[in-house]
Amino acid sequence: MVSGSGEQRVAMSTQLLQGQKALVTGANSGIGKATAIALGRAGADVVVNYVAGADEAEKVVAEIKGFGVRAYAHEADVSQEDQVVGMVSRMVDEFGTIDIMVANAGLQRDAPVTEMTAAQWHKVLDVNLTGQFLCAREAAKEFLRRGVVPEVSKAAGKIICMSSVHQIIPWSGHVNYASSKGGVGMMMQTLAQELAPQKIRVNAVAPGAIRTPINQSAWDTPEAEAELLRLIPYRRVGDPDDIANAVVAVASDLLDYVVGSTLYVDGGMTLFPGFATGG
Ligand code: BGC
Repeated sequence: MVSGSGEQRVAMSTQLLQGQKALVTGANSGIGKATAIALGRAGADVVVNYVAGADEAEKVVAEIKGFGVRAYAHEADVSQEDQVVGMVSRMVDEFGTIDIMVANAGLQRDAPVTEMTAAQWHKVLDVNLTGQFLCAREAAKEFLRRGVVPEVSKAAGKIICMSSVHQIIPWSGHVNYASSKGGVGMMMQTLAQELAPQKIRVNAVAPGAIRTPINQSAWDTPEAEAELLRLIPYRRVGDPDDIANAVVAVASDLLDYVVGSTLYVDGGMTLFPGFATGG
């Protein structure tokens, strides 16, 4: 084959993660589902975590197996320490190790501040922030135990935190969610600083408005979508694959020197679009 031919370039880009073992939390729907499938397509074996919705998780597993890699579904609530510990230790038993942790699982419980219950506050912080901490911690232990395997990856492991544009954009009526994502940003940077000397790369991917069940009311009528597009300079609502592709890139050695960064994948939502005409 001619060097650099189209075929060769495609083969390279589709097998960016060959032989790596990935775990994606909240992988039975939305961004997590697309990410788990994209990692499998890129050559990784994948654990598909879910907390509810076993049927959908099994469908994701079947789709991933279609790429000729291994996959299985694992039920666990990421906010529960024992369940996260059990999930990662089973993965080490079944796949031998973990190379990529995508801490994706997240939810919203929206309310004006005066109506927000402590339960709503705790639920969102427990899943979105504590859940990511527990997943990152358990992955880091295995990365440190195993160290770098040069044939697999230049790094000893990659942790990718699913953040949000609300890591930096305040969001009225969503103080629990925005606080959790602001926390994810600082947690990610602190872990990146702490673990980089051991060759562990910790980064965040921060989606804008992506067409998933979490924000369906923001795009499922023409009126709502028009309103939403005013906040997106690129004038399109994102697809789960936009985020999945970003995760594959960050997890791969192509981005080996990216450490402690947040990659905003948002069609420009963080560009203060109100100032395009005002100010
Ligand atoms: C939220 C969505 C919202 C988007 C942009 C995401 O993190 O989960 O509900 O549409 O940010 O505001």
